[in-house]
Amino acid sequence: MTTAPEATSYQLIDGKKTAEEIKVEIAAEVEKIKALGGKIPHLAAILVGHDGGSETYVRNKVLACERVGFGSTLLRYEDDISEAELLAKVEELNQDASIDGFIVQLPLPAHISADKVIETIRPEKDVDGFHPMNIGRMVAGLPALLPATPSGIVELLSRYGIETSGQHCVVIGRSNIVGTPVSILLAKNLDTGNCTVTLCHSRTRNLAEITRTADIVVAAIGRPEFVTADMVRPGAIVIDVGTTRVADASKKSGFTLKGDVDFAGVAPKSSYITPVPGGVGPMTIAMLLLNTLRAAKGEIYAR
Ligand code: GUN
Repeated sequence: MTTAPEATSYQLIDGKKTAEEIKVEIAAEVEKIKALGGKIPHLAAILVGHDGGSETYVRNKVLACERVGFGSTLLRYEDDISEAELLAKVEELNQDASIDGFIVQLPLPAHISADKVIETIRPEKDVDGFHPMNIGRMVAGLPALLPATPSGIVELLSRYGIETSGQHCVVIGRSNIVGTPVSILLAKNLDTGNCTVTLCHSRTRNLAEITRTADIVVAAIGRPEFVTADMVRPGAIVIDVGTTRVADASKKSGFTLKGDVDFAGVAPKSSYITPVPGGVGPMTIAMLLLNTLRAAKGEIYAR
């Protein structure tokens, strides 16, 4: 186990490589299931509308299923689908025995309540880990389908042998998808946990003063290059969850993906840091696959 040294050289936390390793492990499990004549895990994704970021994420999730040998189904709807229609689609997937788990890509159009949609998903099939049943079970320390991005962060820290016990972790951002659940997981009495966690958000006073006391910084606010070098102490471990598209005429796509951390400024000060892209993002997909495998095997909820 390593602790954050007071050094200026840093190690890149390679989420792309780690996610590949996890996918190889999952593919091996699928082969075993096949050899035993079991049911191949099947993930479905619902995508509403044409948001560029969401299209990319969902495409990558479907490709990842193919890569590990899962079945996958993509259900696309225009952004004028009514809430009632979408809830009916969710109910169909709930009832479909061929589907082990499914996700509804967020954000949804303003006329649809994401909360209602999430609450309609059967907790056993909620491989995003967003349903209040899964969140509640996570908080209570019961077996649950854990949200993919937070568990991906924990997995990265674990696989890089980073000591978390007793460390001060400052999380910036309190979203239901990342900030809130990662702060809960890292505080738990688990192998990669036992952190003293401070959860900061838009109303936090003296943010930089707090982040400068962090051994581990998790930036999950969705504001490009928000965390600057003056906000981190030498030797800190920096986890960047941001993926904001910023216009860039020099790119064929017309945009660059920016993290929440000013990488050029912060990296030389850190001991470990995740890049964007290639850090947390690929781990989210790997953990989604792992949740789908768990759902298919009935590991959390008996089938
Ligand atoms: N939008 C941004 N991140 C996520 C995610 O992890 N799952 C879903 N369903 N939507 C998202």
